[in-house]
Amino acid sequence: MRRKLVAGNWKMHGLKAQLGDVVEIAAAAAAAPRVDVNLCLPFTLIEAAVAVAGAMPIGAQDVHEADKGAHTGCISGAMLRDCGASLTIVGHSERRADQHETSHDAWAKATAARRHGLQVILCCGETEAERDAGRAERIVQSQIEKSLPEGASGDWLTLAYEPRWAIGTGKTPTLDDIAAIHAIARAKLRHMVGDAADGIRILYGGSVTGANAETILATENVDGALVGGASLTVEKFGPIIAAAAEIARRG
Ligand code: 13P
Repeated sequence: MRRKLVAGNWKMHGLKAQLGDVVEIAAAAAAAPRVDVNLCLPFTLIEAAVAVAGAMPIGAQDVHEADKGAHTGCISGAMLRDCGASLTIVGHSERRADQHETSHDAWAKATAARRHGLQVILCCGETEAERDAGRAERIVQSQIEKSLPEGASGDWLTLAYEPRWAIGTGKTPTLDDIAAIHAIARAKLRHMVGDAADGIRILYGGSVTGANAETILATENVDGALVGGASLTVEKFGPIIAAAAEIARRG
């Protein structure tokens, strides 16, 4: 079966002074051998974090679709590999909102990441207005359809469902709503890539904490969590890793 994955997204947080938190989180990850744990950090911390993170993979939060060129301020997959990153997030809703990225951009970025041997966490998720209008399922299906890269399989690709209205708000969907979207996402993957869909992990993200992790992670088709605010310290992230480890232990 699919191993649980607990991924941290530090967003635009973290200076070198926080490398000690990376060390502590890596130790918590090492103490949970049945669970995969990684941290997606600001570009400026990746190389230093790789040096202290031991076996815990360190990733980025974005990558450019081109391999190199005249793209001021952007980072290529080759650059990420060069500083030791092993994965990247693409299509995060904050980039869709702030940088006007589309599902097609996410597709191109995921494709570029793969060219450079990076693992990918591909994000999808509806806005509050879309949910209120009863369109959440259709939005997620459409985002997956437009952004899923060729050759998608679980050895390099993970999907993350992050309802935008649940990010950083303390609000989460009901477990039934999470299960419903994850089932729809799983069916969409199956429709697009057949049996390979069975190996692709689908994470839930949006206000995951130590208090709600165990019930969310035990929900059908939830293969892990993508965690923002609660991934910054081991005090907050450790209990989420522990919850995943407990579920893995129970089998
Ligand atoms: P929060 O866990 O802070 O709600 O953020 C979720 C997220 O956007 C992770 O990518």
